[in-house]
Amino acid sequence: MSQHDPEPLTTFVVAVDGPAASGKGTIAKQLGEAFDLPVLDTGLLYRCVGMAMLQARENLDDHEAATAAAALITADQLENPDLRTRKAGEAASRVAVHPRVRGALWDFQRTFARQDGGAILDGRDIGTVIVPDAPAKLFVTARPEVRAERRWKQLKAAGERVSLKTVLADIRRRDERDGEREAAPMRPAPDATLLDTSEMSISQAADAARRIVEAARARWMSS
Ligand code: C5P
Repeated sequence: MSQHDPEPLTTFVVAVDGPAASGKGTIAKQLGEAFDLPVLDTGLLYRCVGMAMLQARENLDDHEAATAAAALITADQLENPDLRTRKAGEAASRVAVHPRVRGALWDFQRTFARQDGGAILDGRDIGTVIVPDAPAKLFVTARPEVRAERRWKQLKAAGERVSLKTVLADIRRRDERDGEREAAPMRPAPDATLLDTSEMSISQAADAARRIVEAARARWMSS
């Protein structure tokens, strides 16, 4: 497995990064429809590894077991609705600190990014590590309190019983773990456009993202 792709990227790829519940997943999906591009939610890969570890009763800090689990991930496993739970999100951020787990998931993501016709990937390190050569990069943020409320509503709608305060604590803990880890910490790429969705509705955020990507595509086509 190589983490250095020798082939230059020739297709239009959009990297959408940002913290939990910033709106990046919804934005990525809407961009996919607007630009007719396939979308990969890369958080699902880490969630899948986390869930596999929990199911096998492995210790989430065991980087060898987690790397072995990451090597077995296939696209059809990403459809599992249990991956959207709070437990899966927390387990995902624990296994995501292991550099070899990240390495084991690199090929899957890079292959998706390089498909004919282009692609959109959302995650934490798409613009910095997975597709640093992406022609369009967004870093979507929102205040932690706003993100917590959004995530709490989603979890409630999905039948999870949890308080807003707990969800805010989860979000802060995950922000810290994702931002402070040594391997591919969550950071905006230097050439990413920042989009703060704190005061925006979903449709306002999606419109703003579409304009940013349209401008990036025009630059990419004329280059
Ligand atoms: O985006 P989502 O909340 O599904 O991601 C779950 C966890 O997976 C994140 O908190 C992060 O630790 C990890 N992740 C990552 N790199 C990505 C996508 C997700 O480290 N590209």
